[in-house]
Amino acid sequence: MNQKTKTQQSGATAVFGSAEMKQSAPAETLPLGMTPPEIAYQIVKDETFPQTQPRLNLATFVTTYMDDYATRLMNEAVGINYIDETEYPRVAVMCGRCINMVANLWHSPEKSEWKTGAVGIGSSEACMLGGVAAWLRWRDRRKAEGKPFDKPNLVMSTAYQVVWEKFCQLWQIEMRTVPITHKNPTLDIDAAIKMCDENTICIVPIAGVTWTGMNDDIEGLNSALEAYNKKTGYDIPIHVDAASGGFILPFLKPDKKWDFRLKCVKSISTSGHKYGLVYPGLGWVVWRDKEYLPKEMSFGVNYLGANITQVGLNFSRPAAQILGQYYNFIRLGYEGYKQIHENSMAIAQYCHDAIGQMHCFCNYSKELENPLFIWSLDSEYDKTAKWTLFDLQDKLMQSGWMVPAYTMPKNIEDMVVMRIVVRQGMSRDMADMLMGDIINAVAELEKLEYPTPSRIACQKQQQQKGKVYTH
Ligand SMILES: Cc1ncc(COP(=O)(O)O)c(C=O)c1O
Repeated sequence: MNQKTKTQQSGATAVFGSAEMKQSAPAETLPLGMTPPEIAYQIVKDETFPQTQPRLNLATFVTTYMDDYATRLMNEAVGINYIDETEYPRVAVMCGRCINMVANLWHSPEKSEWKTGAVGIGSSEACMLGGVAAWLRWRDRRKAEGKPFDKPNLVMSTAYQVVWEKFCQLWQIEMRTVPITHKNPTLDIDAAIKMCDENTICIVPIAGVTWTGMNDDIEGLNSALEAYNKKTGYDIPIHVDAASGGFILPFLKPDKKWDFRLKCVKSISTSGHKYGLVYPGLGWVVWRDKEYLPKEMSFGVNYLGANITQVGLNFSRPAAQILGQYYNFIRLGYEGYKQIHENSMAIAQYCHDAIGQMHCFCNYSKELENPLFIWSLDSEYDKTAKWTLFDLQDKLMQSGWMVPAYTMPKNIEDMVVMRIVVRQGMSRDMADMLMGDIINAVAELEKLEYPTPSRIACQKQQQQKGKVYTH
């Protein structure tokens, strides 16, 4: 045994005195030998050291704060695979209970003891499961009618989240998108209905549009679709992508009809790891009744003393998130979720008002529907500004905030906006600090003598489109 190994084994390693700390971290091939755990830990830890603090990341919708008990429970379950139901049957029961509670929050009409739903790794898996079920139901119906079933399509607005593009490409479904415009910033119902035909597997409205924070008018869509289905004899369903809204609307707008209270809504997906307040990754999908979940997608287990239906794209998945969700449901209850989301909403509203009062900005929407919002540079201000919102994003990063700037979807992609997502973990004090940092950053940017590279790029684009602004 050489001297170095002895020192390490005696626990006397000086991590920053080690040979490993003088070398680059492994990047291409698996290291040949072993590394002492404290050094391996330090290398991995330090990779993430300069990153934004998760709670200052206002770009994400995903949970960045859970209380100590939730964190403990989840850490204790970190080695448990959800799929091993025989070994951990209570996790499956807990999952079934979570599905029941989510389904009941969404006014499921299903009468059985276990509601029809599934856990996913996030909304993406949940959306895909909802989409696949709609496609299979449509295909089975077409087959039964002896009609062709090779040209399925799906209708939604251009403000879709990328998962729907993936779903349509992977399952070879034509994606028909209704452009969002400044006049119609949410799904244009008439235009959506006009895009439907006998091959439409479903329409997908969004509760909590990723790009804007607004909600599609699902009740209006349901009425128009019911009339259309009656007139045509089709049976086009609605799948609601409620990635954010699924855990906001039941608490903040309980009287608003967007869920299974509407006849055409046959499935709904949400992210447990967004406003369900669980660390990533967790998603839920619920069907109106078991008849809407095609048999090919489900596999039932009956060894738990009850029939629990299992559906999923992945086989193995972490169980810890389910424990976290069930803990939150018990710990917070309806009232707890309501209070947390009301606070997020009040803080988002406070930021919205403060941004709206700044001379250089213009909020995209007057009212907030969810605890997130977007704004742009005021159109007059924009004509002579030497900076863009991309520069403001960079400046705010210097104080640790991640407030993303991005261009809007197709048709209104000229517009650059900035977004704040307020979640549990953002206090009024933090909002004050953020607003102060924005004011200071703008004051710095206004001192610039020459346009920034991002402003020059923006000017070039505008010149190409015939809009010339001078500085
Ligand atoms: C409307 C919408 N749908 C789907 C998703 C995908 O969610 P996840 O990240 O949980 O897979 C998101 C994510 O932001 C979203 O906003």
